[in-house]
Amino acid sequence: MRLTIDLPLAVDRESPVPLAVQVAGQLREAMRTGRLRAGERLPSTRALSTLLGVSRTVATDAYQQLYAEGWLDGRHGSGTYVADDALPYEKPGARAVDVRGAVRREPAPPGWVDLRPGRPWVFGYDTAAWRRAWRSAGELALNAFPDPYGHPELRELLADHLRRARAVPVGAGNVMVTRGTGNGLDLIAATLLGPGTRAGVEEPGWRAARRIFASRGAEVVPCPVDEQGVIVEALPDDLRVLYTTPAHQFPVGGRLPIPRRERLLAWARRTGAIVVEDDYDAEFRYDVAPLPALYGLDPGRVVLLGTLSKSLGPDVGLGWLVAPADLLDAVAERRTHLADRTSGPVQRAVATLLERGDLDRHLRRMRLEYARRRAVIVEELGPYVRGDTAGLHVMVALPAGVVPGLVRRAGERGVLLDTTEAHHHGPPRVHGLVLGYGSASRADVRRGCAVIRELIPPAEA
Ligand SMILES: Cc1ncc(COP(=O)(O)O)c(C=O)c1O
Repeated sequence: MRLTIDLPLAVDRESPVPLAVQVAGQLREAMRTGRLRAGERLPSTRALSTLLGVSRTVATDAYQQLYAEGWLDGRHGSGTYVADDALPYEKPGARAVDVRGAVRREPAPPGWVDLRPGRPWVFGYDTAAWRRAWRSAGELALNAFPDPYGHPELRELLADHLRRARAVPVGAGNVMVTRGTGNGLDLIAATLLGPGTRAGVEEPGWRAARRIFASRGAEVVPCPVDEQGVIVEALPDDLRVLYTTPAHQFPVGGRLPIPRRERLLAWARRTGAIVVEDDYDAEFRYDVAPLPALYGLDPGRVVLLGTLSKSLGPDVGLGWLVAPADLLDAVAERRTHLADRTSGPVQRAVATLLERGDLDRHLRRMRLEYARRRAVIVEELGPYVRGDTAGLHVMVALPAGVVPGLVRRAGERGVLLDTTEAHHHGPPRVHGLVLGYGSASRADVRRGCAVIRELIPPAEA
């Protein structure tokens, strides 16, 4: 069997792209274009690292990424192989884009413009601050017993961050460190829901919330939103939990006005429901300051979930859950039973970023960049743009009939899109695109928007 050691691989040390990402990208491209074929053997990580003059970790990380994406197969004790089903991507023209499934997280092929929401701009990191944080994580003992509430120092730092950034009147005693919003929501669901309970999710709304509630046995109840957010008058009285995104409704983009917040909390007090406030991208507002969090209006009825997924990236795996102390204790107990925890080193790294002000600096820089990208979308697609000047995505409203064809034709031209249709539980009632500008460069955002504009039928333009 041929050893593929003669592949033309190279790394660019001047590039801001991490070495492992470069190596993985070149191998992926070789498999995508058929230069590496199913069943072929790859060099060992040792051989690859020698060949490229990089550390063994770089080679291992690149392979791990490709394993995770399903490109590679490890046969125990006998090396690394291109997976049998690692077929080259079809050419853009032949690629079938399913409107409902268009957000499946396959990485975009090289050269494509990926305007699906969900990821921030990792090239904006201050790499010196990032490395310092991870060195601090590694210096400390790794054998501490996990605390279901999280590290006390980080809980203090997060409480401080929330008081400053979100005007949330919170002490460390109300904060639990999670692995992100999904993890926090699942812990709430595991504590409060089960067969025979009903849980509301905004419609359209975050798919993961529906799946999490359903996987804990609850009946999922779609709760309609309008351009400002959840419609309180349409909420049934028998929900145990309601999942909402009041700072920036996902995906429509509205901000729940104060009077409606008051009515929502009055509904929760009357019915006994717990309102889960997903504050996923509240750090990113480009016009006025964010409204104070719902949690601050009634800390007895609200659970606030936050995440670093939009500021640092989803694979960092860190978030927070803020809740009344008795509910937090119940969640911590359930968490212990589930043997669920947040990684200690990740908590230490994030504590360093917070302590040194690196996270705040990063957010300030990213706000400027995202505001510019959003302005490009408004420039290109202004009349169709909906939602607040916030976050890492906008909704582009289009007539129902236009969306599937537009997504397909954009796919044929190398632009990956997501739709509001895909975020419904029942029959779609809000139609259009959900454009993410977190992970595409400003130039790509412009390229993608130009393609969309060309594809909007003249009658709608
Ligand atoms: C509405 C919403 N909430 C939260 C998140 C982040 O979830 P997590 O912190 O689990 O990565 C996302 C990510 O895409 C999202 O779209």
